[in-house]
Amino acid sequence: MSTSFTLDTSTSRANPTPAPMKRLTVPRIRSRKQDGVTQDPIVMLTAYTARQAQLLDPHCDLLLVGDSLGQVIYGLPSTVPVTMDMMANHAAAVVRGSYHSVVVVDMPFGAYEASPEKAFASAARLLKESGAVAVKLEGGEAMAETVAFLTSRGIPVMGHVGLTPQAVNVLGGYMARGRCDAEADKIVGDARALDEAGAFAIVVEGVVEPIAIAATQAVACPTIGIGASAQCDGQVLVTEDMLGMFERVPRFVKKYHDIASVISDTAETYAKEVRDRSFPSEAQTYQPKT
Ligand code: KIV
Repeated sequence: MSTSFTLDTSTSRANPTPAPMKRLTVPRIRSRKQDGVTQDPIVMLTAYTARQAQLLDPHCDLLLVGDSLGQVIYGLPSTVPVTMDMMANHAAAVVRGSYHSVVVVDMPFGAYEASPEKAFASAARLLKESGAVAVKLEGGEAMAETVAFLTSRGIPVMGHVGLTPQAVNVLGGYMARGRCDAEADKIVGDARALDEAGAFAIVVEGVVEPIAIAATQAVACPTIGIGASAQCDGQVLVTEDMLGMFERVPRFVKKYHDIASVISDTAETYAKEVRDRSFPSEAQTYQPKT
């Protein structure tokens, strides 16, 4: 699959359109795990923009429009202030930039916790406005009724247990979860409750490895780990963390590149060339036709 296509700004579609391909579907993702076994691990990355989606899409099964965009894109202190408008707009951009992956959009804090009906209204709005096909929400047993309500009304739901960043004010920070037995049992129970309620996949975040393994074995649907274990049925990372956009990242992140240095070194070179008038050169300057 080519990743070299660019956005046609008149249609907002990729141009040229890549060779015809069928977008993956939620049932196909769900059925990757059969009788407790996932032969082909599920690949998910976050995406927030159309161009980013274009570049990631051919390599992923799922693109997650995560509410981590609050910190990564908007410089907010946590995901708590993220709004429905932000999620809908970024999700629409990611859908426009992708052809292959299932696009999942995070429900922001405050958009779903109060009742299943409120969750349905928020989820329906996100799917209608963006074209994404599934939502993700945080929380375990307490959210099971909501997950069942949405799934039985046509909205696929990805769960999220363990470290749930929207609950930072209750948890008191972003430390790994499940270090004591009671917490471990709760996290595995949460995963089980979401699975029974019909979640098609569950993100397991920031837990000690034995819990990730226990949760993965306890549920029929795939688990997708982040700071969890290689034994999960798939993995997700925040793309900017993976690319090395930030100096400080959690221990579980593997920085595949140092994109921060590329950007800052390039800006330094550009600034120098503007100041010494070596940019723009002949090559970047229009002249009248002779
Ligand atoms: O918001 C997000 O990016 C997420 C992932 C870290 C799973 O929820």
